[in-house]
Amino acid sequence: MFVSKNLEVNEKGHLTIAGNDAVSLAREYGTPVYVMDEELIRENCRKFSESFASYYDGNGMTLYASKAFSCKEIYRIVDQEGMGADVVSLGELYTALSAGFPAEKIYFHGNNKSREELEYALSHDIGCIVVDNLEELGQLDLLAGQMGKRPGIMFRIKPGIDAHTHDFIRTGQIDSKFGLALETGEAMTVLKRASAMEHLYLKGVHCHIGSQIFDLEPFKAAAEVMLRLIAQLKEETGIEVEQLNLGGGFGIKYTLEDQPVSYEKYMKEVSVTVNEVVRELGLNRPFILIEPGRSIVGPAGTTLYTVGAVKEIPGIRTYVSVDGGMTDNPRYALYQAKYDMALANKAGEEKNTVVTVAGKCCESGDLLGESIPLQRAEAGDVLAVFATGAYNYSMASRYNRTPVPPVVMVKDGESRLIVKRETLEDLTRNDL
Ligand code: LLP
Repeated sequence: MFVSKNLEVNEKGHLTIAGNDAVSLAREYGTPVYVMDEELIRENCRKFSESFASYYDGNGMTLYASKAFSCKEIYRIVDQEGMGADVVSLGELYTALSAGFPAEKIYFHGNNKSREELEYALSHDIGCIVVDNLEELGQLDLLAGQMGKRPGIMFRIKPGIDAHTHDFIRTGQIDSKFGLALETGEAMTVLKRASAMEHLYLKGVHCHIGSQIFDLEPFKAAAEVMLRLIAQLKEETGIEVEQLNLGGGFGIKYTLEDQPVSYEKYMKEVSVTVNEVVRELGLNRPFILIEPGRSIVGPAGTTLYTVGAVKEIPGIRTYVSVDGGMTDNPRYALYQAKYDMALANKAGEEKNTVVTVAGKCCESGDLLGESIPLQRAEAGDVLAVFATGAYNYSMASRYNRTPVPPVVMVKDGESRLIVKRETLEDLTRNDL
């Protein structure tokens, strides 16, 4: 049993990923390597997009939250799937544009955008700037005036919803560095000020309540709170904004115990709330946006490593060390995130050991997981870690001067490189 449906075991007893023998992939591209399944990514994109057709009469759009995994090819894929993109830095914006992503379908986030970032966004006429604070609002209005532009903006609002997720990835509550607070009246004051600004066009409001959320209720509550805000703004200024962006955060299956809500169910139930509240408040239903990141790419990724040292400490634990670690996947070190794993060359065998999987960095906390059920490991085995498509490559570091691994895209038994492995020369390129 695997966490993702694209994973199977072939006649050699090897793991396959979208029809590709994982052991052969490891041999061909070297390890560590991130493997991404194109069909699964596209399928996830379509689940969201088709739900807009079913539940909002097509009056909405999915923005891919590219912080989850950003490289040129993913922007090409989501563009082909008819989606927009959420970017949160100059680097993501530059990557999207250099992949030919349509500027008008880009929403630019960030709680502390620099002048350089705002100028770049304005000069490329991107679709919408999601303004986080008053400081940014003033600066943007000034820059837009100087550059002769009138960009569309929306505001990031903290709806005051607690989504019961890990503290570091929870962002909708009042004590968060992101956005404007609703409870204090700050949001309304700033919205009113923005609606009167000459060089800015107030398009809508945005919220994002957290990440890896399994519960539907907080999403429904956030949608309701945001619609009430839209109604209040209409009442107090006569302006009815056109767009409501409900953010991302849909949980995925990392381990067999995880039971995420289907995207379809999320879209359906939230649409029921949206339609009811809109009717009650006498609003036009706004154009709805959502920003899934993890749920698009997370399940599509598998990281392959080669096992090196296996250290059995009698009565304590067995360390299985691999040729990557917190540099390519910092999520255990940061959040104690759990992953399912298997030895790709022994995938047909029983998992009859329980081990700690360690990386190769000079840091005791460099672990990929503890209490991991695994086939008996020995040097040379290929370890597969599943559901690593989101927030792994995008959060990779070069600690200990470790080059960032390559990304290989697989589809129908074929594979192709979409991001090359960093070289030692790449690591020293900027050193003077
Ligand atoms: N929109 C906004 C404004 C966000 O801040 C985020 C995530 C998303 C969309 C996408 O959320 P998703 O659908 O991927 O859950 N590094 C952490 C996750 C941080 C998420 C930050 N914001 C992790 O590895 O779990």
